[in-house]
Amino acid sequence: MLAIGRICYPYQKWLITNDGYELLTSQKWFGSYLNINGCTTPCYNDSFNAYGWLMSETKKHWENVYLTKSPLKVSWYQQEPVLSVSLIASAGLAPDAPIIDVGGGSSTLVDKLQDEAYTNISVLDISGSALAHSKIRLADKADKVHWYEADVTRFEAPHRFALWHDRAVFHFLTKKADRERYVNVLKQTLEKGGHIIIMTFATDGPNKCSGLDIVQYDAEKLTVELGPGFKLVETGHEVHHTPAGNQQKFAYFHLRAPEEAV
Ligand SMILES: C[S@@+](CC[C@H](N)C(=O)[O-])C[C@H]1O[C@@H](n2cnc3c(N)ncnc32)[C@H](O)[C@@H]1O
Repeated sequence: MLAIGRICYPYQKWLITNDGYELLTSQKWFGSYLNINGCTTPCYNDSFNAYGWLMSETKKHWENVYLTKSPLKVSWYQQEPVLSVSLIASAGLAPDAPIIDVGGGSSTLVDKLQDEAYTNISVLDISGSALAHSKIRLADKADKVHWYEADVTRFEAPHRFALWHDRAVFHFLTKKADRERYVNVLKQTLEKGGHIIIMTFATDGPNKCSGLDIVQYDAEKLTVELGPGFKLVETGHEVHHTPAGNQQKFAYFHLRAPEEAV
C-alpha cells in the first residue's frame, strides 16, 4: 500500500493510499444535499462529511440528530432561553464584547442576543447541520454572527472572548481526557476574569441526553473539574420542559475566570 497523501481533519491525519481509499471517500463526498426550507446543506453519509473526511463518532451522532429531527422537537429545545439571556445580562458586558455559545446547536440564544443588541456573537457546534438550521432561521442576520463548526475540545479560538456560554455540552464529556481538553480550551479562549456560564443536568436530573451518557454536576463537582482559580458567582437549578412534555432538572453555574494565568 503506497501512501500518497494525508488528510488532516481537524486533528487526525488520515493516509490516502493508492489502493482506493481516496476513491472510497470521493464516492461519498458530494452525494446528496438536504433541503431545509429551500436552502441546501450537505447530507452526510456514513462516516464521511461533505468534504470526504472521516468524522468522529461524536460528530456523526450530532449530524445525524440534526439531519433527522426538527430543531423544534429535540428534547433540549427552548423557545425562549430566558435563563441564559438573564445570566448573560448579569455579566454587565459592553454590547460589542465577544460572546461565544459553545455547542450552541440550533438554539435561538443567538437570535435573542441580537435582539438585546449584542454585536459580537459567535456560535460553535460540532454539527454543521445544527448551525445550518440557525443560519436559515436568522437569514440576513446570520452574516453578523461568527460561526465555528468544530469540536469544542479541539477549538483554536482566533481571539479571546469575554463570555463563554455552554448549555448542555460539557455534561457529554464522560472521559476525563476530554474534560481536561475542554478546560484547557476554555482557559486559552477566555479573557482574564472572563465570564463562564455552564448548564448541565443536575445531580438529581436525567443521566442521559440524546441517547448518550452524561455526567451530572453540582457546584462542588464542577469547580473541581475546572480547577483552581475559577470563582463561582452564582449557581441554581432550572426545570426544563421538553417539547415531548417531560421535565428535566438542570443546574446552572456562573463563574469568573482567573485574573492571572493558571
Ligand atoms: C443538548 S444539545 C444543546 C444545544 C444548545 N446548547 C441548546 O441549549 O439548545 C448539545 C449540543 O452540543 C453539540 N456538541 C456535542 N458535543 C460537542 C463537542 N464536542 N463540540 C462541540 N459541540 C458539541 C451538539 O451538536 C448539540 O448541538
